[in-house]
Amino acid sequence: MSDILVHTEAGVMTLTFNRVARKNSITGAMYDALSAALGQASEDAAVHAVLIQGDPTIFSAGNDIADFMATASAPAAAPMKDAPGIRFLRTIAAFPKPVIAAVCGPAVGIGTTLLFHCDLVYAGDNAAFSMPFVNLGLVPEAASSLLAPRMFGYHRAAEALMLGEPFMAEAALEVGLVNRVVPPTECNAIAQGQARKLAAKPMSALIETKRLMKMAQQPAVLERIDAEGVSFGQAMRSPAAKEAFSAFMEKRKPDFSKV
Ligand code: COA
Repeated sequence: MSDILVHTEAGVMTLTFNRVARKNSITGAMYDALSAALGQASEDAAVHAVLIQGDPTIFSAGNDIADFMATASAPAAAPMKDAPGIRFLRTIAAFPKPVIAAVCGPAVGIGTTLLFHCDLVYAGDNAAFSMPFVNLGLVPEAASSLLAPRMFGYHRAAEALMLGEPFMAEAALEVGLVNRVVPPTECNAIAQGQARKLAAKPMSALIETKRLMKMAQQPAVLERIDAEGVSFGQAMRSPAAKEAFSAFMEKRKPDFSKV
């Protein structure tokens, strides 16, 4: 079965992370599947909203670290902006129709940063958000270096992006990253209900409302995604990142004392 399930019903395209054994970590092929589904959702007049969801126990452990390691040790080929993850981020950031997310359990790295590009976010009370880029020798992505300070305030964003520690659903509610905290077993259904409510509204009015709300920040967001991508591409090849990736694979603590 595919690692990304795509199901369209009642005007809602539901994208489900389906790689629970690997904690829904996201491979290049999964980013490509997400981008293709969003492309189709954008074109298809029968799709009025998109819901992104995981499992009641895990939203996503972020980028697949084995993929990171493979990219970091391969000779630099295509520009970073053509990497599947960056292409997905550009696609979701520019997606014109409403996007809803249902988040339960850990939402690590891009599992959290993709939420900056969703319109409504529902979280299970077991949700744990984190952006541990620095801990992996990496830098923020998804324009989170721009959007987290704007949404959370600088100091809380610095705590999230520099310490990289998880923050729970209630804290995410307080900073405005989520709309509502709900029981994990009900989260996907509640988010689906909200998505269907949006899907029943006049589509052109919704699309125009989203465009107008995003108009001021959109160019800066796309520019930041690219700028972060350049830094990310360099950071991925750094000794610190290689040590962090190896440590994760070897199930040990990283030792940054020599990098
Ligand atoms: N990439 C590749 N494999 C991953 C992964 C990732 N991002 N996250 C988890 N896995 C794998 C683990 O290696 C483990 O594999 P194994 O069964 O062969 O040992 C399996 O998924 C289960 O993960 P585990 O860590 O045992 O689950 P957990 O419930 O104890 O913890 C997380 C869940 C999400 C908190 C933890 O897996 C984690 O922190 N993952 C890494 C997150 C990360 O740093 N992502 C990159 C962000 S930029």
